[in-house]
This record gives sequence, structure tokens and C-alpha cells, in this order.
Amino acid sequence: MPQVYLNGRFMAPEDAQISPMDRGFLFADGIYEVIPAYNGVLFRFEEHLARLERSLAEVDIRNPHSPAQWLALCDELLHHNGDGNLSVYLQITRGAAQKRDHAFPSPAVTPTVFMMTSPIAVPAVDSPDTAVGIKAITLDDIRWARCDIKSVSLLPNSLLRQQAVAAGAAEAILLRDGFVTEGSASNVFVVKGGTIATPPKSHAILGGITRDLVVELCHQHGLALQEREITEMQLRQADEIWITSSTKEVVPVTHLNDAIIGNGQPGPQWKSLARHYVQHKRRLCGLDTPETRD
Ligand code: PDD
Repeated sequence: MPQVYLNGRFMAPEDAQISPMDRGFLFADGIYEVIPAYNGVLFRFEEHLARLERSLAEVDIRNPHSPAQWLALCDELLHHNGDGNLSVYLQITRGAAQKRDHAFPSPAVTPTVFMMTSPIAVPAVDSPDTAVGIKAITLDDIRWARCDIKSVSLLPNSLLRQQAVAAGAAEAILLRDGFVTEGSASNVFVVKGGTIATPPKSHAILGGITRDLVVELCHQHGLALQEREITEMQLRQADEIWITSSTKEVVPVTHLNDAIIGNGQPGPQWKSLARHYVQHKRRLCGLDTPETRD
């Protein structure tokens, strides 16, 4: 039976109750993280925690737990849910106030902490030779000016993703003033002439933990990588497009709007990066997938 965590207790999801006065419910006044775990081992935990601390600080919500407490909570939640390959979702809201007021409650109220797990589907990088790509569409980035904060206020992202799904695509790649920002729930990479590029970190995108790992792996393995602006034209003319996120890892985009990217198959740079990614994951989490078995 799945277990979730709410404000100090583990319980069945149907037993978790939150006040309608919670500012997460009334104002989407909260921060979240999604941390993958393989074989029950949290992946890039310190990086996710550092981003969580930064997001909380940016919106002035007190971090209710120390890093050691967060680690213990995540481990216990994973354990209650059978370990394995799961993502941990954790959300902290400013808490429930007496009345609805746009300004923060004063004195501050106790933050609400909610955590749950979800299964991670077998990612494309695990089988680079047989993986198939996804379709994406381009849409205008209609979100706010602080997309670097991992806020639970995801209505624009949700609307954008739904538009992609309605068009038979798996992701929306967003454009602001003619430049690529990111996906509705992912970061974006393009490859042209062997060089990999991804937009630089700014307030316009979430600083993805997977994005940072891909950048690190490219540097480590001598794959040419630039962090620079990408125009809509450069996106359309790319040899390869990838999207990255903690739950999907690195996914090749082989169809963009009505056009084929490259030859319509995952490209050679993606395959090479996928192998490095899986090796790295295997080293850190003790995985033994058929592709990586010696
Ligand atoms: N989303 N950009 C946006 C807007 C995202 O929502 C996400 C991830 C990313 C990738 O970040 P990371 O590599 O740290 O997961 C980029 C998560 C998975 C979600 O909302 O479920």
C-alpha cells in the first residue's frame, strides 16, 4: 500500500488532509522538488536540496528541515514504498493562515510539508540502441519572469503541456522573444555540426539538475558543449534536440511540429551521451541494466 508523508507522519494517501486555508491551495504559495531514486538510492540529492533551499529563500518560506532530516524523510518514504526506481515529490507551502490575505501571515505560520513517491518509467537512456524519440511542438512561453524558482504555481506549464498533448506531442518547447527557454517540464539541448548547446541559466528557466549533469558529462567526456542562447531557427534546423528532466533523464526529440529532426531517429551525440549517463547512474546507484552489464 503506498504511503505519503504529511506534516510529521507517514500515512495512506486517502488519510492525508490539508486545510483549504493552506496558502498552497489558495495562492499556489509553495515550492516543490522531484528527486529520482534508483534501487532506493537518491540521485543528485545534494543538488536537489540546494535548489530547494534556494527556491524557499527566494519566496521567503522557512525551510522546516535540516539536510539530514530531509535525507532521513526521503529514505524512510522510499522504504515505505518498496524502494526500487521511484521519484520523490516533496512540497512545502507557506502554511494555513486564519484568513485569506495576499500578504504573508504575520506572525508566520507553520509550513506544510507533503511528500509522495511515483514510479519512474524505464528511461530512453537505458537502451540507446533501441530507444525511439518523442514529438514536441513549439509554443510561446506564457509564464512569469521567475521561472528559476521551482514554484508549485504550474498552471501555465500545465496549459502548455496540455496543448502539446492535444497536438499528439509529448512536450512543448517554449519560445520567448524568438529564443528557446525550456520545455513545459524539462530543459532543452540542441546539437548542430557535433556541437551541443543549451540555454544559459537565468530567471527565464529552471536550473535543471539533469541539465547540469548533462553539461558536466559533456565536459568530462570531451563532447563540445556551449551554454548560449538558441534561436527558434537554430532549434528548427538542429541535427538533434534533447529534453532533460529528473524523471525522464535525457530524451531525444525526433519530431518538432510537423518536421523531422535529423533523420527522425535518436542521433549519434544523444547515443553517446546516453551511454555516459547510464554509466554514471550505475556507478552512483549500483544499477545493473542489460545495456550496462559487463
Ligand atoms: N520538472 N524545467 C521545468 C519547467 C521543469 O518543470 C523541470 C522538471 C525541469 C528539469 O529539471 P530537473 O532536471 O531538475 O528535473 C526544467 C519536474 C520533473 C516536474 O515538475 O515534475
